[in-house]
Amino acid sequence: MIHFFTNRSIVTQLGILIVLLLALWVYGISSMLNQLTEKQLETQAKTIVENAKTHWAWGADYSGIWIKSGTNYAGSYIDRIDAGNGVVFYYKNPARVLKEISDKGIARQNNDSFRMVSLNPSNPENLATGFEADAIKKLSEQLITQKTVGAIYTQDADTFRYVEPVVHTAACLTCHGEPAKAPEGMRRTYGSSNGYYYKEGDVAGAISVTIKFDKWAILSSVINTPLTVLIVFPIIAILAFVYGLSKKISNVATKIGSYQRGQSIGIDAKSIPENTNNEIFILVRAASKLVGIVNGTFSQLSAATRKDTKIDRGNKGE
Ligand code: HEC
Repeated sequence: MIHFFTNRSIVTQLGILIVLLLALWVYGISSMLNQLTEKQLETQAKTIVENAKTHWAWGADYSGIWIKSGTNYAGSYIDRIDAGNGVVFYYKNPARVLKEISDKGIARQNNDSFRMVSLNPSNPENLATGFEADAIKKLSEQLITQKTVGAIYTQDADTFRYVEPVVHTAACLTCHGEPAKAPEGMRRTYGSSNGYYYKEGDVAGAISVTIKFDKWAILSSVINTPLTVLIVFPIIAILAFVYGLSKKISNVATKIGSYQRGQSIGIDAKSIPENTNNEIFILVRAASKLVGIVNGTFSQLSAATRKDTKIDRGNKGE
């Protein structure tokens, strides 16, 4: 079986090896680039989550935010204070502040956006769907079995999705525990059926990040001049050099192999400098020398044979 390979010409052998090598190399490089893209997207998603948490924390520092508007404000709120003269202040709890920031990102059609979602949301708009829902279920199980939770992500050709869990603390249960104990405004705006009955340590939901990306735009920023000049070009150059060299050796070998007495083998050794270190040149010179010697010996031999024959004939004639 091994002879099947080793009996082929060195050019074929090398050609096969080079093709295999290139295939592995392309596979290796492309999987490395995919990994890079994924790490890059993961980092980006983590930053968005951190940013969202910072906004939430900022809102929580003030136990929510009061916004100023008119009497006919149509937005969502838990409480209101009428300041008179048509000025009314509306109270937004931190999660609501975050929800409005995330809605803003989605409305602006940013390439990346986030949502705070849950399987049992106070606001039905925040219902986790598809991948988010599956991820929250998985994360809830993980929290029970492993006591810690990480994040879950997935990606397709142009969308990266990242889901990081949010866990309820005692402070959250004022609004997400027993509905009877929730602020009256909470029940008025969001009702008494969803978003409640959580316990401390439950997975409340998740910050779900969606990043639209263009893989080629990311990769073209990675495949830059140094990568091409320092890695791609030298490897191609080495392979081309080795291939050319083996082609030369194969050429010489074929010529020597097809040597026929009295015929030139078509190798010109005269132009090769005396002191060359190139083994192929040395081989070519040796071959042409050998052919010269063989041809010389042969003509001497045939000259001698001719003489003998003449004498023989002469003898016979006498
Ligand atoms: C003052 C009441 C209040 C407190 C305290 C509170 N939340 Fe909420 N939470 C809400 C309201 C109201 C919404 C719905 C906001 C909206 O309109 O999208 C909400 C929404 C959420 C959502 C999005 C899904 C949903 O239910 O709509 C999550 C997740 C969440 N809260 C988790 C928490 C966590 C974790 C804490 C504690 C760190 C917390 N909440 C504390 C009132 C509260």
